[in-house]
Amino acid sequence: MDLPQYTKSQLALRNGSEMDEIWIAFEGKIYDMTSSVYWKKGSHYGNFPGQDLTEELSTSPHGRRVFENLTPIGELK
Ligand code: HEM
Repeated sequence: MDLPQYTKSQLALRNGSEMDEIWIAFEGKIYDMTSSVYWKKGSHYGNFPGQDLTEELSTSPHGRRVFENLTPIGELK
């Protein structure tokens, strides 16, 4: 089944500030981190939601395994 498509602007609104939802994009997919304790305060170790963080992953200590158990809610247009 096709995932819903969202624009960068729609993603940008879900930064935990404009709207309560906290979304991030990684490799073209959008993940809802609203209920994650690690993203709760609207930032994640200096990384801000509401944007594509694909490039920033290389600065993290954990790598892509953190996405293995997550189900994307949409795709970035
Ligand atoms: C300095 C940079 C970062 C640090 C220190 C950091 C640290 C952490 C820690 C400690 C966890 C939870 C434990 C674990 O699974 O390892 C975690 C989870 C996670 N991180 Fe990062 N992270 C960083 C950057 C990033 C970036 C750039 C992204 C996105 C591309 C990201 C995405 C995630 C995701 C999706 C989870 C899983 C959250 C969950 O399942 O609730 N992190 N991170």
